Amino acid sequence: MVKIGKIELADFPLLLAPMEDVSDPPFRAVCKEQGVDLMYTEFISSEGLIRDAIKSRMKLDIFDYERPIGIQIFGGDEEAMELAARIVDTTQPDLIDINYGCPVKKVVCKGAGAGILKDIPQMIKLTEAVVRATALPVTVKTRLGWDEDSKNIEEVAERLQDIGVQALSIHGRTRVQMYKGVADWTLIGKVKNNPRIKIPIFGNGDIDTPEKAVEYKNRYGVDGIMIGRAAIGYPWIFREIKHYQKTGELLPPPTVEERIDTCMRHLTKSVEWKGEKLGILEMRRHYASYLKGLPNVKEFRMKLVNGDSLDELKGILDELKEQQLQLV
Ligand SMILES: Cc1cc2nc3c(=O)[nH]c(=O)nc-3n(C[C@H](O)[C@H](O)[C@H](O)COP(=O)(O)O)c2cc1C
Repeated sequence: MVKIGKIELADFPLLLAPMEDVSDPPFRAVCKEQGVDLMYTEFISSEGLIRDAIKSRMKLDIFDYERPIGIQIFGGDEEAMELAARIVDTTQPDLIDINYGCPVKKVVCKGAGAGILKDIPQMIKLTEAVVRATALPVTVKTRLGWDEDSKNIEEVAERLQDIGVQALSIHGRTRVQMYKGVADWTLIGKVKNNPRIKIPIFGNGDIDTPEKAVEYKNRYGVDGIMIGRAAIGYPWIFREIKHYQKTGELLPPPTVEERIDTCMRHLTKSVEWKGEKLGILEMRRHYASYLKGLPNVKEFRMKLVNGDSLDELKGILDELKEQQLQLV
């Protein structure tokens, strides 16, 4: 069993990666149905939380059925991070995660996200401020380092553990790599196999099949795997990995009905949580992934991204299901 503080997770837990504009409650709900063990909110700006920005506050919405769940924050200012952690603490997630991995310029240039990888003493200060502000377990998600010449994750992991961080998720890329190239897990494996490291180490980057998940588990010895992009429009990745790990056999892919029904539930939850206008708008980015690989869906995809009422969209999805079932 893997433990983060008092949180008990399955052996070799599967984590849903925090993803901006993706990892919201509707998306998390469909991933939870498929057996994900630990989920995170998308990152939330510490400054936004303090300013009481509605958008940041809304991201704090978590539900009991989602537990265990972590809320992820980011920022470059010690005081703001401490205050933000206090605000997050009042909403009682299971843990608070700090983002030191976001490579986006507007985050990095404020010394937040992966920007902090250039200044480890400041990273330590920010982390201490968060640890001080809450009794909840604090975890960190980060990258290998800033660039090819400064991959400092081994030192970073030890220092974070020493100041009370209780788990570390490592994306096997540098900031400079952004999302390009292939994630390199060798350093993640080295961190995990460092005898000084006692906290759970979760590997992240490019896991998109059950075979790869199990191969990387065995090769690098990580405590669990965090999955991001492969779960978008395909939450079944979690159950498929679990099944393969247990039996050595691949599950058949979800049926067309299952795919369209899940898309429908995701849409319905999106509208319930965000209201019809925003719920419909923000669901548009998911249709292509849900329909990926299905034959003759172009016309339906167009209709879905242009539809503007829940009833209309449900009708289109029903029609699509009928068409697909006839093709089978
Ligand atoms: C659309 C998108 C949004 C993301 N937003 C966040 C975020 O809010 N916080 C974070 O720590 N990482 C974020 N990431 C990075 C992912 O959590 C993950 O580290 C990365 O996608 C690599 O994992 P994967 O290959 O399984 O997708 C984001 C990635 C994507 C694709």
